[in-house]
Amino acid sequence: MTAATKDQSLERAFSGVADNYRGADVDLNALYREMRRDSPVLEENFMGRLGVPNIAGLDPDRPTFTLFKYADVMAVLRDAANFTSGFIAEGLGSFFDGLILTGMDGEAHRRARALLQPIFMPEVVNRWRPRMDRIVREEYLQPLVPQGRADLMDFGLHFPIRLIYALIGFPDDKPEQVKQYAAWALAILAGPQVDAERARVARKAAMEAAQALYDAVKVQVAQVRANGATGEDLISRLIRAEYEGRSLDDHEVTTFVRSLLPAAGETTTRTFGSLMVLLLERPELLERVRRDRSLVSKAIDEAVRFEPVATFKVRQAAKDLEIRGVKIPKGAMVQCIVASANRDEEAFENSETFDIDRKPKPSFGFGFGPHMCIGQFIAKTELQVALNAVLDLLPDVRLDPAQPAPQITGAQLRGPHAVPVVWG
Ligand code: HEM
Repeated sequence: MTAATKDQSLERAFSGVADNYRGADVDLNALYREMRRDSPVLEENFMGRLGVPNIAGLDPDRPTFTLFKYADVMAVLRDAANFTSGFIAEGLGSFFDGLILTGMDGEAHRRARALLQPIFMPEVVNRWRPRMDRIVREEYLQPLVPQGRADLMDFGLHFPIRLIYALIGFPDDKPEQVKQYAAWALAILAGPQVDAERARVARKAAMEAAQALYDAVKVQVAQVRANGATGEDLISRLIRAEYEGRSLDDHEVTTFVRSLLPAAGETTTRTFGSLMVLLLERPELLERVRRDRSLVSKAIDEAVRFEPVATFKVRQAAKDLEIRGVKIPKGAMVQCIVASANRDEEAFENSETFDIDRKPKPSFGFGFGPHMCIGQFIAKTELQVALNAVLDLLPDVRLDPAQPAPQITGAQLRGPHAVPVVWG
């Protein structure tokens, strides 16, 4: 079986997460436009209204405020002292015991980022590029070429987890293991649910998956340390990393590596899907990008602005605060709608147009401020490798006219379900 062969269990797990986060069937961008104009600071859990499960800590009765404007979202995400993330770890006990950046605050978070950051900078990530390129082309796309048609999501579902798995340093000759880890990572993501009974079952499955992943990663970490940790792989680099005389023990390396699998897989899958849809819907633009590969990075940045997969971020007010005259009491949740901020007409000209030629300006698809995605250069490199490989190996790739046009949907973890294409 090639790595690109359909894997039913992984696909089921993926669509389970997708269903979970579907949200209501509404024109979200029209709604966001209205909210930016009429209620830029809404005293309500907006995502809850759409049917997105509550991730705002254990207490659903906490007051929640929702922000829609670019300037407000930026102000909150950059101010991690007043808008904290510790609540994310609430109630998840052993799962958050260890080095899990997203639920850390203050000095502890700053020190952990300082230790980890050098490993994720472009000069390190670029060294991994040839390996990524080989895997994407040889294991995934070349076997597809003779078929002449495919759903690009079959490819998009598998390659990110395979790549992060390779960078972490897991052995290359165990494809079954990759699938198992990918399914566990998705089970962790499927944890939050709206329905109480489904939530109980999904949470139990998520905790079991987290434990299974922990056990598998821990064995690898101990082995790498025993062998001297001299390699270029992520585990070796994590073991060698030091900041102010401190380094990581096996438990910290294991919990951090485990957190990367859910963080790096589905996000990249959906971003790849949206990027491909946005280009395939615009054949002339796709042709421009094919001829001028310096545009690949611009297309990725604009796709991350225009259709961010992580559509919102939540923080908790550390003290009584005020935004646009609205009082936010200490302890309240603040929901930042990235999908709205990224299309704020006050921040971007023609904000609702997908325009890869626009002037570079920060958007929030990878977050912003101290918690900004530590893996963004890895994600961008993977996406560059994948898009270049598609353009090189699938000649004249275009949407399959015999299939329904793909749609980018979802209030949370947004992306297309299928991207049917033909080539040649
Ligand atoms: C296109 C793919 C990706 C997207 C859209 C994405 C998005 C994000 C966003 C929005 C955040 C901010 C979370 C917050 O503010 O609370 C984040 C954080 C994070 N991401 Fe990514 N991510 C992607 C890929 C990756 C990859 C490939 C890795 C690892 C190799 C990764 C690892 C992390 C980690 C560890 C954090 C936590 C950082 C912190 O809290 O300090 N992500 N990501």
